[in-house]
Amino acid sequence: MGDLVIYGSYGYTGSLIAEAAVERGLDPILAGRERRTLESQAARLGCDAAVASLEEPKILDMVLDDATAVLNCAGPFERTWEPMVEACLRNGTHYLDITGELTVFEAIHGHSDRAEDAGVMLLPGVGFDVVPTDCLAAHLAQRVPDADRLELAIRAENGVSRGTLKTVIAQLDGGGAVRRDGVLESVPPAHETRTVDFGWGHQETHVAAIPWGDVATAYYTTGIPNVTTYMAMPTAAVRVQRAAGLVAPLLGLPGVRPGLQWLVERTVDGPDAEARTTGESYVWGEASGDGERAVARLRGPQTYALTAETALATARRVLDGYAPTGFQTPAGAYGPDLILDVEGVEREDVV
Ligand SMILES: NC(=O)c1ccc[n+]([C@@H]2O[C@H](COP(=O)([O-])OP(=O)(O)OC[C@H]3O[C@@H](n4cnc5c(N)ncnc54)[C@H](OP(=O)(O)O)[C@@H]3O)[C@@H](O)[C@H]2O)c1
Repeated sequence: MGDLVIYGSYGYTGSLIAEAAVERGLDPILAGRERRTLESQAARLGCDAAVASLEEPKILDMVLDDATAVLNCAGPFERTWEPMVEACLRNGTHYLDITGELTVFEAIHGHSDRAEDAGVMLLPGVGFDVVPTDCLAAHLAQRVPDADRLELAIRAENGVSRGTLKTVIAQLDGGGAVRRDGVLESVPPAHETRTVDFGWGHQETHVAAIPWGDVATAYYTTGIPNVTTYMAMPTAAVRVQRAAGLVAPLLGLPGVRPGLQWLVERTVDGPDAEARTTGESYVWGEASGDGERAVARLRGPQTYALTAETALATARRVLDGYAPTGFQTPAGAYGPDLILDVEGVEREDVV
């Protein structure tokens, strides 16, 4: 088994993943740009540390030289994916990350041929976004082989981290997105709403369309050409989303976006251990086409707890030597049952 480098290991989610990796007996190399924080984390967990900025390709090359895979946890990923993917292509290192950013999935997909030539796997999205939804999409596609429409919805409990909020702010003026006839299409924020039965006591839940990563990835996994993704939110939140579309130009004014990022930096800590233990996450999906229809759903641990589990489940497969080259999606590489490997995840077919 070769080395796993966890980059951004001392962030909120990177720390959860690094701690879980050590608990499971993996011996990751912890990496990031801030020496003091990194070295104290590495000493606490008994791991090797590698200080490297993404702006120093030669140092990155030294870190990745002997590594089998890197798991990039440094987000927003629109700022970090490219130097790390380039370093992976130079060094023959498999690339994993926990992005949920639609534009990042699409950009990485654009390097698939180069990755195949380099014998490298590029697998973005190994967290809550998009492992459970991608696995449910693949499961539904197997049940309706001629599906031409896929709808996916998520319901997440118990809070968000600082990095997630900063990523949301970075993307706020992107509007919504769906896939229609195989092509990504921009739509206004929360342009569609409906109700979804998530099961397990969460019937008739109000959901609104959001540009979740599956708008990119589900198409590559299943080939289903029309994909809409939704998130559970109260109707008041839908009104806020739609209003955000109207004020989006304000985000371009000097200081507005950095001001919001600054506020988040100082006021948000992320869900604590109790919230991660007590919270749950739910995914619902429906595939239809040619007179056939299938509905299925999943229940699992809280989103950040689940992210640590799915990231490690995929990393372990890569370290065990299974890493199909080129751009991959979680279920495309490891099948729809990958998510069932995570303790506490249940799947049920409804229709
Ligand atoms: N897919 C999913 O389901 C999922 C789940 C959880 C989180 N996420 C995403 O993961 C990202 C991290 O979230 P978090 O909660 O862990 O955030 P966080 O606590 O703010 O941590 C971010 C980490 O990234 C590093 N970083 C950021 N920009 C960097 C750069 N340009 N160069 C080098 N390092 C950089 C930070 O290092 P410094 O402190 O040195 O800046 C820090 O270690 C976010 O984008 C979030 O949306 C996705």
